[in-house]
Amino acid sequence: QKKIQIAIDGPASAGKSTVAKLVAKKLNYIYCDTGAMYRATTWAAKEHGVAFDDDVALGKLLGKIQIEFIPAEPEQLVFVDGVDVTQAIRTPVITNNVSAVAAQPMVRKALTKRQQMLAKNGGIVMDGRDIGSTVLPDAEVKIFLVASVKERALRRFKENQQKGIMTPLAVLEKEIEARDYKDSHREVSPLVQAKDAILVDTTSLDIKEVTDEIMKIVEKFD
Ligand code: C5P
Repeated sequence: QKKIQIAIDGPASAGKSTVAKLVAKKLNYIYCDTGAMYRATTWAAKEHGVAFDDDVALGKLLGKIQIEFIPAEPEQLVFVDGVDVTQAIRTPVITNNVSAVAAQPMVRKALTKRQQMLAKNGGIVMDGRDIGSTVLPDAEVKIFLVASVKERALRRFKENQQKGIMTPLAVLEKEIEARDYKDSHREVSPLVQAKDAILVDTTSLDIKEVTDEIMKIVEKFD
């Protein structure tokens, strides 16, 4: 059976990474979280005192640092130059600045290249914002996952509660809207549904239902 490329794009907190991981597991494919690469870059910028909008300096920084993914349960670990940043890249300071870093052309160029290398032999589920449109334009399966802002904020709120983070729901809604706006309005590779991507609205679906829906689409391809 041919090992294909599956691209899953969509706005913040639409459930991309959760279902992408499950689909990858079912198919015994690699899972690649491209958001984690942008987050790790943002973490490194902060660590090295590089401004989040300094394109040239960020490009240079990416030439020097090493970002690694180590498979683990329940989530893969992310390392920058040997430092485990798995937790640190999910903190509000990174979340609220990652869109600025991700808007820089040199950053996008460098990370897109890495993502294309990882996917070149297929057998991969990659999630992000521009996978179907820019990184893997020939992906056999492209999914565009959406959900209402209210529902996404609520999901994030519940997730945060389990981690002991107490950001009010209204603040989360505002943050999600702000990130959607920045991701959709940047000049290079904005968040956009690829023409040949299939829209899946997860607002009233649970994780299993979304995963089943995507598996149906994947199986149809075979
Ligand atoms: O998916 P996640 O929320 O972790 O992504 C963090 C940020 O990284 C996004 O808000 C976006 O600014 C950026 N990103 C991107 N392109 C991707 C994946 C993520 O610009 N392919």
